[in-house]
Amino acid sequence: MSTQSETIRRNTVPQIAKRKGGEPIVSLTSYHAHTAAIVDKYADFILVGDSLGMVMHGMDSTVGVPLDLMIMHGKAVVRGTQKALIVVDMPFGTYEESPNIAFRNAAKIMKETGCGAIKLEGGVRMAETIRFLTERGIPVMAHTGLTPQSSHVMGGFKTQGRDKDTWEDHIADAHAVTEAGAFAVVLEGMVEPLASKITKEIAIPTIGIGASVDCDGQILVLEDMLGLNPWTPKFVKVYGQLGPMIEKAVKEYADDVRQRAFPTEDEIYT
Ligand code: KIV
Repeated sequence: MSTQSETIRRNTVPQIAKRKGGEPIVSLTSYHAHTAAIVDKYADFILVGDSLGMVMHGMDSTVGVPLDLMIMHGKAVVRGTQKALIVVDMPFGTYEESPNIAFRNAAKIMKETGCGAIKLEGGVRMAETIRFLTERGIPVMAHTGLTPQSSHVMGGFKTQGRDKDTWEDHIADAHAVTEAGAFAVVLEGMVEPLASKITKEIAIPTIGIGASVDCDGQILVLEDMLGLNPWTPKFVKVYGQLGPMIEKAVKEYADDVRQRAFPTEDEIYT
């Protein structure tokens, strides 16, 4: 009898880390088993991002996302996939207070979902925690630049690095998470030359979102690139028009029901 760990061969954290400067790393977010199964065919890693609070649950920001919700969606994505490394976001309030609290919550996420790594936001200020987690067996993907969990402090979702005086801080953040042991870092909403400079300077892969083509990989929110969100950030290339397609299908169904044109038992629809 084969066990799950014998039959499932997922991308590992060291394999992703080794892609620095190599073949670009493909990643997307996913929150459900069915979309994750499709994404799994093409992505090197899948992020169960806390963006699910806004994208799926209609929240105004990611600040209100609870740990249990991340765990529930993390489990679904792990169940739906076989190949990609699964990374689960630590939500706001579950890791900032102390390395001990971060460890407790990160371990809970890993044990309950079966994911391969966690992601948390912050640079220099989170370096001690990143070191604490990685030294205790928890692989950490860092996230710097525009960090949505701090949107209240940042005054909204603003592109970072427009003022060159701030570059030094962003560069210090990237170096701090690298030295603390993060295996990769998401650079979100950052002016292109800054993201490009950071990518050249640090030893771990950078994963860009609204950052630079020079990043070692790219990530997008799946619903954004599928045209499922009524609003998408300017930098997103929309590869599908699922929103209008769903609306068309739902309207046709509603028309069929109202006109009593609904299929009968002996009509076969595939
Ligand atoms: O929560 C999320 O989806 C993210 C990506 C935007 C990187 O953190």
